[in-house]
Amino acid sequence: MFDLIVKGGVLPDGKRVDIGIVGNTITAIDVLNGAEAGQTIDATGDLVSPPFVDPHFHLDATLSYGTPRINASGTLLEGIGLWGELKEVMTQDDMVARALTYCDWAASMGLLAIRSHVDVCDDRLLGVEAMLHVRDKVKDYIDLQLVAFPQDGFYRDPTARNNTLRALDMGVDIVGGIPHFERTMTDGAASVKELCEIAAQRGLQVDMHCDETDDPMSRHIETLSYETQRLGLHGRVAGSHLTSMHSMDNYYVSKLLPLMAEAQINAIPNPLINIVLQGRHDTYPKRRGLTRVKEMQAHGINVGWGQDCVLDPWYSLGTADMLDVAFMGLHVAQMTSPPEMRTCFDMVTTHNAKTMNLPEYGLTVGAKASLVVLDAGDPIEALRLRATRLFVIANGKLISQTPRADAKVTLAGRPPIVRRRHQID
Ligand code: FE2
Repeated sequence: MFDLIVKGGVLPDGKRVDIGIVGNTITAIDVLNGAEAGQTIDATGDLVSPPFVDPHFHLDATLSYGTPRINASGTLLEGIGLWGELKEVMTQDDMVARALTYCDWAASMGLLAIRSHVDVCDDRLLGVEAMLHVRDKVKDYIDLQLVAFPQDGFYRDPTARNNTLRALDMGVDIVGGIPHFERTMTDGAASVKELCEIAAQRGLQVDMHCDETDDPMSRHIETLSYETQRLGLHGRVAGSHLTSMHSMDNYYVSKLLPLMAEAQINAIPNPLINIVLQGRHDTYPKRRGLTRVKEMQAHGINVGWGQDCVLDPWYSLGTADMLDVAFMGLHVAQMTSPPEMRTCFDMVTTHNAKTMNLPEYGLTVGAKASLVVLDAGDPIEALRLRATRLFVIANGKLISQTPRADAKVTLAGRPPIVRRRHQID
């Protein structure tokens, strides 16, 4: 007897299975003919995936687009300046409300694990308090990890160092940083070293905005990898963005990638925002703004796509859809062969779960019963269609349903169009 059976779905690897759930745990993945269940969801022919995972987001800034003005130049630096203006006027209640609205959007898209950076460069730490509250409010359906993020520079901002420690004392999960925004390369490297030492002392993970610049001499990922090795933080450190790598000298990169692999660094390119923000100082040729994704993967480095922003000072679009993120990444990184496209889907599910060190993630017996049923026959079709999330289940409970998109399309004098290649049985 099961509480819930998801019947006839297709796993990302192509296997057709029924998934049996008791409480908040997957207890069977098999053909469950005749099994009884309190509730049955018909997923015949539909892709059933573990939930989407976003390892890089800014919940404190999301849904603030246009307040108090828009980012006219579209650059990272104007975005940081605009965020500074916004911090002066926004309230804690407003931050909580925006973040909870975003979490509803995320849940409806099957996005059930998010790592959010939280700006600590406000001595009141209003954002930290707000996001800790949000983490508690959404815990039944979203795994929310918070990163203490010194947006204005760990050393560059006079109180950021102290505020980072205060935020960690308050219960923020992960140590962040922004070495390329410190005043000098030396300060940037020193910030990486000290922040990694703080993480090691406290038994925490590290996730830094790292080398989010077009400057090929921005090499803080080297220091981050070295400190990870020195302090034994293998597998517990992520480098976000890493865009300078697109312009680094090839010989230098041939030495860097093995170091990153040995340190088990997790890499988080953010294709929506990187393609928008980077290369703004270029004329032509204009650089793509994305790090070396395929080259890192060829060295065995775990790489997953992050979203970074939705409707905030840096990015004026976004829908909490990790398939949008993977779709953009697929294009910009030219990952167009069938295996590469499948990898792009894995990058917003299993790869990101590895980066976030999520326990009990995946569609296996004994795992947490969280999954999403998509209106697609396989991961490639899910990407092509940015497929509708038909059912979203979190911790054994059905939390969101969306009708099939094509069911609503009617053409005059013709049968309804069907955009799916793999028809439902
Ligand atoms: Fe970010």
